[in-house]
Amino acid sequence: MDDTEVVIAPVDLAARVDEALAVQALAFGLDDAEVAVRRHIVVRHLLSPGARALGATTADGRLVGFVYGMPNDRSHWWSTVVEPYLRVSGSEGWLADSFVITELHVHPAYQGRGVGRRLITALTDGSDLPRSILSAIDTESPARALYRSLGYTDLARRVHFPSAPRPYAVMGAPLPLRRGSGGGN
Ligand SMILES: CC(C)(COP(=O)(O)OP(=O)(O)OC[C@H]1O[C@@H](n2cnc3c(N)ncnc32)[C@H](O)[C@@H]1OP(=O)(O)O)[C@@H](O)C(=O)NCCC(=O)NCCS
Repeated sequence: MDDTEVVIAPVDLAARVDEALAVQALAFGLDDAEVAVRRHIVVRHLLSPGARALGATTADGRLVGFVYGMPNDRSHWWSTVVEPYLRVSGSEGWLADSFVITELHVHPAYQGRGVGRRLITALTDGSDLPRSILSAIDTESPARALYRSLGYTDLARRVHFPSAPRPYAVMGAPLPLRRGSGGGN
């Protein structure tokens, strides 16, 4: 189902960081301490060169989903953590000229309606880079199914980020993203 009542558009996520983190807390599971840490990280991320964010907003203005990302910077923490894993799998080249999806979250009440697919497709369509990379918890989740349907494949698995209890998979896809079974953007 495509939820056309939810509008996908650029959003000042730094100004709405508390709303965004409330969505992420419900969708992904964050406690109050993690939200406090994330608030600083998100605001800093959004100041990175080329960082862009899209929000999914209801007719009455509520933020029910968001995505943001930026061109990969090989000196950034995320890139330095995944680089050795990609080197081992021979996919280090994916770190160059690549648009990183940093966060994608949809409020549980609005999941399964095509909002997540519209968010990530619209964000990457706005990039002129030839590829996109991201990390996702290394388990069979709705997120992993969505990413695969968009053309992302596994570049490395069992990737350990310091402080994250669960291993991640790093995935990459050529841009523009494949149009999946869910259809439009
Ligand atoms: C991942 C997430 C953003 C997807 O958003 P969404 O709006 O529910 O996704 P969509 O409705 O656009 O669904 C797109 C695809 O995702 C997959 N998907 C969605 N829900 C699924 C489910 N319950 N089980 C399996 N696959 C699922 C399907 O491939 C679906 O495509 P289809 O509709 O053609 O079958 C959302 O589930 C979410 O916020 N999850 C928790 C947070 C999270 O894991 N974020 C990603 C961090 S890496």
